[in-house]
Amino acid sequence: MTENSPKTVRTATLLDFKAEGRKIVCLTSYDALTAGIFDAAGIDVLLVGDSAADNSLGYKTTLPITLDEMIPFGRAVAAAAKRALVVVDLPFGTYETSPADALASAIRVMKETGAAAVKLEGGKRSSEAIRAITEAGIPVMAHIGFTPQSVHNLGGFKVQGRGDSADQLIADALAVEAAGAFAVVLELVPASLAAEVTTLLSIPTIGIGAGNDTDGQILVWTDFAGLHQGRPRKFVRQYASLFETLTNAAKQYRDDVVAKSFPNKDEEF
Ligand code: KIV
Repeated sequence: MTENSPKTVRTATLLDFKAEGRKIVCLTSYDALTAGIFDAAGIDVLLVGDSAADNSLGYKTTLPITLDEMIPFGRAVAAAAKRALVVVDLPFGTYETSPADALASAIRVMKETGAAAVKLEGGKRSSEAIRAITEAGIPVMAHIGFTPQSVHNLGGFKVQGRGDSADQLIADALAVEAAGAFAVVLELVPASLAAEVTTLLSIPTIGIGAGNDTDGQILVWTDFAGLHQGRPRKFVRQYASLFETLTNAAKQYRDDVVAKSFPNKDEEF
């Protein structure tokens, strides 16, 4: 593993990384297999994102996934991770109704998954929920800019914080920090604004589609691994072509079985 790689990544480690200028490397994961691989590869934070909704459960957006559905994903990732900080998303509908509901959801995640922190979406509007959860001793990662749970309200998958709305985004960032968040995800934010927020905050910023001046980066693992068909979104860099690899493997397997060449004599008992 590279320098600046502690044995266990904790929320305080991320603050140290920010102070040292060491970038924080994050990926999503929803299962023990990928969590074990990413953890061993030195990924600092494994986010059990509610993007499990579209990536693992086949929903069209992140809105339908429930806490009952999120918990087994969180448990699998937490069980496999030895070094990485595991953060579990609070799904839509589990924290907006009241700070007490938010705390109850966060407590369930912590009790039933073994994760180290929760994440929730929203700036000022979520600050009371963040305060209630952090005051109970549970670390919270915030998420502002494009927040997928508000996709319908935001009018689709759009860059946030352009023009006059930049001030609102800065106010949201300051609000989640004041409420006690240990880090904040900035999704689909102009690079110059993300850089400004990163300078203004003492907690780390984790960017996705937010340029290179945030304290860390996160990608959805199926995007980074090229598991989807078609052109990736502008901010995604694909580090593998798993869609093609798995498609070719499945076709080859099918052909081998049909041709009766699998299994061969060496592959039988
Ligand atoms: O659920 C998720 O994958 C996320 C990332 C996009 C940050 O929230």
